[in-house]
Amino acid sequence: MPLAPSTVLNSYDWIERFYQRACRPEVSWGAAKRLPYAERSAAARSLQEFARNENGSGEWVVDWAREIAARNGDRGFIWAFRLFLRDECRQGWLVNRLLDQLGMPHSRGSWVDFVLRMIGKLRMPSLYLHVLAGVEVVSRSYYRALGDATESDVIRQICKRLAEEQDAHVEFTAFAIPLMHPSRTRLAQSSIQAAHRAFVFAALLRVWLRHSPVFHKSGRTFRGVWKETMSALDTTAR
Ligand SMILES: [Fe+2]
Repeated sequence: MPLAPSTVLNSYDWIERFYQRACRPEVSWGAAKRLPYAERSAAARSLQEFARNENGSGEWVVDWAREIAARNGDRGFIWAFRLFLRDECRQGWLVNRLLDQLGMPHSRGSWVDFVLRMIGKLRMPSLYLHVLAGVEVVSRSYYRALGDATESDVIRQICKRLAEEQDAHVEFTAFAIPLMHPSRTRLAQSSIQAAHRAFVFAALLRVWLRHSPVFHKSGRTFRGVWKETMSALDTTAR
């Protein structure tokens, strides 16, 4: 399903959206633990892979957001960006709480953590946001598949929420990325778009190979998931 083009006009609209999102009703936690061990274990493995604990790791990106805000005379961007990072933390908390419900351990770091940490060390905000958008868009497709495949109401409910939030996060990166390079040439844009698609393809293939039973159970083919993911990515590739 393609993402709708962003209707958000400025940073203050994003601030309002993130505040509204934070006030969503609590998930009704239930009997996730009663699932068969094989299903709990399969769900936990994938959730651990996508769970990221971003607490305190995004300060350098906030510094960059400050620079952008100063350059554009848009102080709201700093707060919008902070709320975006807080939303990411809240997602991590939600996934960890679900893992607790499933009786499974939290993630001790994943390839996503590793890649984003490396980019953080290199202080490359543009690459950081592109990689983050790629990860968000792939995990969005995965959460949708897991939500359709599971027998658990709690997992279904949380996957639906996470997928919706990833939609918003992809949309936010689509808003933020052009602020970095407002005068990028068409050739540069095409090159970045091609590299980004290659990264997303590799990430999606990895997720597909590791969790193909979930995709099969949800009735999805790789081709279908790729098309769904590309539709979402089109929002970011500007
Ligand atoms: Fe996210």
